[in-house]
Amino acid sequence: MTSTIIRPGLGHMPGGDSGDFTPNGGRVPRLSGDIRHLIPKLGLREYWYPLVGANRVPKKKSMRVRMLGEDLCVFKGQGKIYALTDICPHRGARLSEGDCHYDGTISCPYHGWVFDGEGRNVAVLSEGPNSIVCGKPGTEARAYPTQVLKGVVFVWMGDGEPAPIEEDVPEEFFIPGSHIFFNEHIFWRTNWEVALENSMDSHVQYLHRDNLQALLGGDGASPGGGSSGMRPIFTGTGFQGGGQQANRGRNNRGGNNTRQQQLMPGQAANNIVNGRAVYPEGWKWPKHRFRSNWRQIFGPFMYMLQVRTPQMTQEWKWTGGHRLPGIFGGASTTPPPPKTGFPLFRAIGQQGGSGLYGIYRRQVVAVDEWTTRVWYHHGTLPRNKLELLWFAFVYFSWGRWTSEYNFSQQDMSVMMHQVYDAPEKLSGTDAEVVAWRKLVVTKHFGGRNFPYAYENPEGLPAPELPATVMVSTRSSNGNGNGHTNGNGHS
Ligand code: FES
Ligand SMILES: [Fe+2]
Repeated sequence: MTSTIIRPGLGHMPGGDSGDFTPNGGRVPRLSGDIRHLIPKLGLREYWYPLVGANRVPKKKSMRVRMLGEDLCVFKGQGKIYALTDICPHRGARLSEGDCHYDGTISCPYHGWVFDGEGRNVAVLSEGPNSIVCGKPGTEARAYPTQVLKGVVFVWMGDGEPAPIEEDVPEEFFIPGSHIFFNEHIFWRTNWEVALENSMDSHVQYLHRDNLQALLGGDGASPGGGSSGMRPIFTGTGFQGGGQQANRGRNNRGGNNTRQQQLMPGQAANNIVNGRAVYPEGWKWPKHRFRSNWRQIFGPFMYMLQVRTPQMTQEWKWTGGHRLPGIFGGASTTPPPPKTGFPLFRAIGQQGGSGLYGIYRRQVVAVDEWTTRVWYHHGTLPRNKLELLWFAFVYFSWGRWTSEYNFSQQDMSVMMHQVYDAPEKLSGTDAEVVAWRKLVVTKHFGGRNFPYAYENPEGLPAPELPATVMVSTRSSNGNGNGHTNGNGHS
């Protein structure tokens, strides 16, 4: 099916089934060199995105939500939540400024055209029941399919038929008994892609070294400890944190280092003495050992603050890593060990995980070219109401602040002023960023179902994938423009 769809502010766009919607006639440009200019500035369209928390949608009124460069009018009725384009087809007034006089409808504030949840014009209040324009072709407001999962409204703004929502929304949203704590209130003044590239590289070890979680609960400053992006494993919709995969069955521990060093191909093990890297000049990093001392003291408390999380059945797809259309998962999905005995005694001597709350996912949604909404979803699996209360207390008193503000504001502080179009010289630890950009450009130009060919570096085994997921073994392209080769390795 091919049709022409008018999208407010964006002119005429060719439309069709989700796999067919392609801005370049389905031709994917050559994926070599610097491809940042090929990344769609308002994100990929043919995917489900979080729209708003369901309980924020008012009764009898509507609200405006801007995303992917468009304004949506969101309202409730007949037990559902609807999203229409926020432009009245009559003369362009804003539907979101209107009222819901009749259940399941929104009335435009200007001449009172009334629209139902499907966008049909069902009445014209200023002209009466015998209005001759009412319901005529062309009087529809464009409606976007929505679905509510665990208190979050998701929306499909693609031009094609909606894809199965399970492909785009993390598995914990479908697990019975799971509870998702989420935060929809954070906006970053940067582009969505810039916001999302801030993951699966080596920045955690430096930028977040003085994050409170790193100071108190984990080792945040050892070189190589968190650079999981150098060995990305393609999963069909994104990349797993490859570091853990690469280290399976290997012994990368060197010297007195208490953490695994993740090394680039050809790189010798760093000289680590007592948890600190020693440079030829005698410099030591981190400069002090106070982090590890504090960790001994605060580790048990951090352990006590861990919450039970659901277990993914699709580990290959939903463990930590990058996922289309713009999700980064930063935490293990494995539940902590069963808690027995008095909590304080049980915690003594324990160290507290990554410190990020629950199954931590950050999802970016382009608002405009230089504004990004950053959603945080935290999957938990409370066993009963009392445990849910405890989880909520931990989240609202500590987990939200530390994960989403203290930790993430460090990211934002850098990205806001990053010169994204400057030439780059990438390192091996940027390999995943390079692979991710190729994936985004492939899906943007080729369509949602266009196969993405990727060679897992170093011949690492791909995770077990469904037969429909393509993992190619062909070689990567070389390139120029000051970039490293196709996998980002120097
Ligand atoms: S502009 Fe909406 S009813 Fe006239
Ligand atoms: Fe970060």
